[in-house]
Amino acid sequence: MTRAVILGTGSSLPERILTNAELEQMVETSDSWIQSRTGISERRIAGPGEYLYKVAAKAGQKALDAAGIKAEDLGLLVVATVSPHILMPSTACFVQAELGAFNAFAYDISAACAGFTYGIDLAGKYICAQPDMKVLVVGAENLSTRINWEDRNTCILFGDGAGAAVLTGESGGERGIIGADLHSDGRLWRLLYTEAPPSMNKDVQPPDWKGPFIQMNGSELFKHAVRLMENSVKTLLAKHQLDIGDIDLMIPHQANIRIINNLKDRLAVPEEKVFVNLNRYGNTSSASIPIALDEALHEGRIQPGDLVLMCTFGAGLTWGALLLRW
Ligand code: UT7
Repeated sequence: MTRAVILGTGSSLPERILTNAELEQMVETSDSWIQSRTGISERRIAGPGEYLYKVAAKAGQKALDAAGIKAEDLGLLVVATVSPHILMPSTACFVQAELGAFNAFAYDISAACAGFTYGIDLAGKYICAQPDMKVLVVGAENLSTRINWEDRNTCILFGDGAGAAVLTGESGGERGIIGADLHSDGRLWRLLYTEAPPSMNKDVQPPDWKGPFIQMNGSELFKHAVRLMENSVKTLLAKHQLDIGDIDLMIPHQANIRIINNLKDRLAVPEEKVFVNLNRYGNTSSASIPIALDEALHEGRIQPGDLVLMCTFGAGLTWGALLLRW
């Protein structure tokens, strides 16, 4: 049986750090409120020239280097993002040009915070059909470009950054993607959304247009996030006759420490098996899991043979879980 394995990972963060103390000067908030309600201390914000595709390509190049693969060996390049460089063409095409991945076809996927997990699952499906294919999946966001900096409900939460993984097929071993349990529910789109720039056709300008920035109903999202990720993890483990005790490392979407702790407690995962870096980067949407995966590897938190669980939740709604053997 062929499984898609991750050959290498990489991540890249903008240099500029925005602290909670700085946010105190911008909106009516406090470091203690932000830390206690979210677990976030600081986040990265793109500075001059740190365009989304540049940060994404840096993460991608690091993943290629770690995998020992040249950009021209890639057959597919997928960028998961909800804050694209421009609307057309895709950010993936900019990243392709930046990396020189000219043998790959390239496109973006839009699945908000679940984008990287959807992307890894997608790469796995291509690889099952064509096992020698090399795929680069990048989760990248410059959410700072989509934030209303006067809205304290959202501006304290989000950050910029990118993470990436290179995958290919491997036969006869245990390594690789075991399976995924992915879902969407478009009925709940109003809980988290970003409007487009003003329409050039006024007949289809959405009513009540407020501006092209993130709008969120945080407390409603919170409840869905915990319940839906818990269900997804349980469904996925049962499908593969695995137990929560078999998991070596859980990498949850980094949105809020209280969501992560709730999920951990409901699933009864010990704290030392949960990876958290939310305090330093905030919520980077599709970049959150690949940045965490890359840091977990660098910190030696993942060893060969380990069972790794990703769980994700975001706008759409989109959510799910993915299991892989390292
Ligand atoms: O990645 C995609 C998924 N995203 C999520 O899942 C986000 C999920 N939601 C959350 O993380 C949390 O709901 C938030 C961190 C956004 C908010 O925390 P909360 O405990 O749910 O607070 P709340 O929205 O219920 O607001 C409580 C109070 C309100 O004041 P009143 O109405 O009780 O007087 C807010 O106005 O906290 C106030 N508040 C703030 N106060 C200080 C909201 N934002 C701030 C702030 N500083 N930045």
